[in-house]
Amino acid sequence: MANRGSGTIEKIEKIHGLPEPGREYLVRCTAMALPWTNRLIPMLWLPHKPGLSHFHVDTRFLNDEELAAIAQQQQHYPPPSRPQDRPATWAGVVAGEVIGVTVENDGLLTWGWFPRRCYRATFPARSPVADVTMQVKGDRVVALDCNNPYMLETLTVGGDRHYCPHQGTPLRGLPVDAGGCVVCPAHHLRIKTHDLA
Ligand code: FES
Repeated sequence: MANRGSGTIEKIEKIHGLPEPGREYLVRCTAMALPWTNRLIPMLWLPHKPGLSHFHVDTRFLNDEELAAIAQQQQHYPPPSRPQDRPATWAGVVAGEVIGVTVENDGLLTWGWFPRRCYRATFPARSPVADVTMQVKGDRVVALDCNNPYMLETLTVGGDRHYCPHQGTPLRGLPVDAGGCVVCPAHHLRIKTHDLA
């Protein structure tokens, strides 16, 4: 997929602070035929490793019409255990508000950096759930129960890391709470780090 001219537009994954609604950023995008949009799909990081053929959508770059179209499909977590039953898009929807969107794919999709307008500064808030199944090796999460969209746990990672220790989702451009933590928008781990302000 060819990139359009980027000029000096900042990459969303490199910004400091929150993105500004109305401003353009360079966003990873892929082309897929999906019923809720006729535009490129803004990706939140890359598709997961082989065997987990999905990626998460950066909903900060979807407009209200696209989010409303997703919510109307009444998709929900957790998905059925039979992968063949899954539609192409999974969305977490609470009270009509889309809190996360996941797209199944073949793991072979192509993507490029494209200028894309930001529609909202943050991801919708999630409710925490206490029981998280997680195995940590050093400062890396090596296994995580990802079936619950509301999982929220605190994991402290060291130094200048600004990528999620689970699947590498970039953590810049996210709100830092009073405890110095950010919530990864992919699977909702709460991560304490010192380099995101
Ligand atoms: S990539 Fe899974 S919680 Fe961050």
